[in-house]
Amino acid sequence: MARKRKIPQEFRICRDESEPRIVGFVCNWGAYSGLEMAGVKKLKYAPSVQLIRLMCLGRINTGLVLKAFEFGADGVLLLGCPSGSCHYEFGVDRAKESVAQIKKMLNLLGLGSKRVHLVEVPLGDGDFLARRINTFEKRIRELGPSPIKYVPTQIVLADQAATLL
Ligand code: FES
Repeated sequence: MARKRKIPQEFRICRDESEPRIVGFVCNWGAYSGLEMAGVKKLKYAPSVQLIRLMCLGRINTGLVLKAFEFGADGVLLLGCPSGSCHYEFGVDRAKESVAQIKKMLNLLGLGSKRVHLVEVPLGDGDFLARRINTFEKRIRELGPSPIKYVPTQIVLADQAATLL
């Protein structure tokens, strides 16, 4: 017979609702080397920024960023190489074009264009990177939580089912 395990409180994933939730997409080259340098120097940056590594910011598209907002992000930060230093030549330039579109869409949706920001990180510049992450986190904190509230699908379905009864 299978025993029911009790999960200790300290192992439960919990989120402090007063903290902003920020998703940071980081390119593997310029920006990630900056993160490594920030780590080597033991620099502190906002822990509310959850970083996701991509090979290049050229992988970013409107749908991906809007999905992050749909799942409850209060802000999305894009960290890539400086224009002209992108490992894949035009990736960061494509990302800039996407960001321009995303900002328009965020305005239309009522979230405001300030919730998304692209930073071109000089190769291996940990100080610059940590400063920019902290500045963005401060901006999102001032803007407050996103007006979009993430509701897990099961809850929506359960609510819909309840209305049928
Ligand atoms: Fe860094 Fe393209 S490789 S933005």
